[in-house]
Amino acid sequence: MESKKVIFSGTQPSGKLTLGNYLGALKNWVDLQDDYNCYYCIVDLHAITVPQEPKDLRARTLEVLAQYIASGIDPEKNTLFIQSHVTAHAELAWVLNCLTYMGELNRMTQYKEKSSKVGANLNAGLFTYPSLMAADILLYGSDLVPVGEDQKQHLELARDLAARFNTKYSETFKVPEPYIPKVGARIMSLQEPTKKMSKSDDNKNAFILLSETADETRSKVRKAVTDSIGEVNYSDDQPGIKNLLTMYSIFTGESIESIVDRYKGEGYGKFKEDTAEAIIEGLRPLREKYNYLMSNKDYLENIYTDGAKKAEYAARKMLRKVYKKVGFIPRKFD
Ligand code: AMP
Ligand code: TRP
Repeated sequence: MESKKVIFSGTQPSGKLTLGNYLGALKNWVDLQDDYNCYYCIVDLHAITVPQEPKDLRARTLEVLAQYIASGIDPEKNTLFIQSHVTAHAELAWVLNCLTYMGELNRMTQYKEKSSKVGANLNAGLFTYPSLMAADILLYGSDLVPVGEDQKQHLELARDLAARFNTKYSETFKVPEPYIPKVGARIMSLQEPTKKMSKSDDNKNAFILLSETADETRSKVRKAVTDSIGEVNYSDDQPGIKNLLTMYSIFTGESIESIVDRYKGEGYGKFKEDTAEAIIEGLRPLREKYNYLMSNKDYLENIYTDGAKKAEYAARKMLRKVYKKVGFIPRKFD
């Protein structure tokens, strides 16, 4: 176990997970669980950098955990935990904040985007969020961090901070690498198929949620934007149809060519209907497991408690080292 490389990734409980998250991330994580020592964290401390309704935050944190497990991420093989349960994250973030330059944080494109939306009364947490993310990663000596394109700049900062700390105080942190899965399906919005499917889209018909009902999925696929060509082809000129074909093929295992062949001269109606059924069938086990888990809160509580204990052990050890190196007197009680 200890000789395996360490993977760390986090998801904010700020929205529900989509089919894009599942095919682009969670499904790949399942393939990593035997070969790596994986930590998957639900980053609630990050979530409050934007306003959250407390009861919704609580509910979504559990939902994300249930969706991880329902997707096949085995809590026996991976460490699944909630960020605020392991206080070393906030503590290391403070130390790293004191090593992070204002200029570095100012350059973060995500901050620029989010702050331009918020306008007045920006909170400092939104600004220093990348230092907290660096703490998440560095606490566990992570080798690899699976992230989407939008998080690469934050990961770069984590690498810089690790190196800076090591130079200033002596070798302590491993410098993490981004992990880009070999095959990651990119699932596009059902309403604007040139944009990726995102849980934060204002249009609810743009995304398929893992936790929605079969009827909701059916209705969204029916309303999916297509084109006026009227023929099922896998082509960049028909991004809507191309996206549906990708999903159809992934869920049935049938090749794109063979699907295209079968719908020759048929128009889109039947093709859309069948695509919806393929998605619904493909997600059925996941959705059943999700519903089962959400009605077994005690089980989920056991998982996140055990996960936090395991994470706490590793994180505390690292934090103790860090505190010592920066010159804090070790405390004499536990
Ligand atoms: P996000 O929901 O944007 O925070 O992304 C979480 C993870 O899911 C990242 O690894 C993304 O690359 C992946 N992901 C999100 N949306 C999609 C999508 N539409 N297609 C493929 N992967 C996605
Ligand atoms: N910032 C990431 C996001 O919004 C979530 C995150 C927090 C994360 N800490 C992390 C991702 C550490 C990877 C590693 O998607």
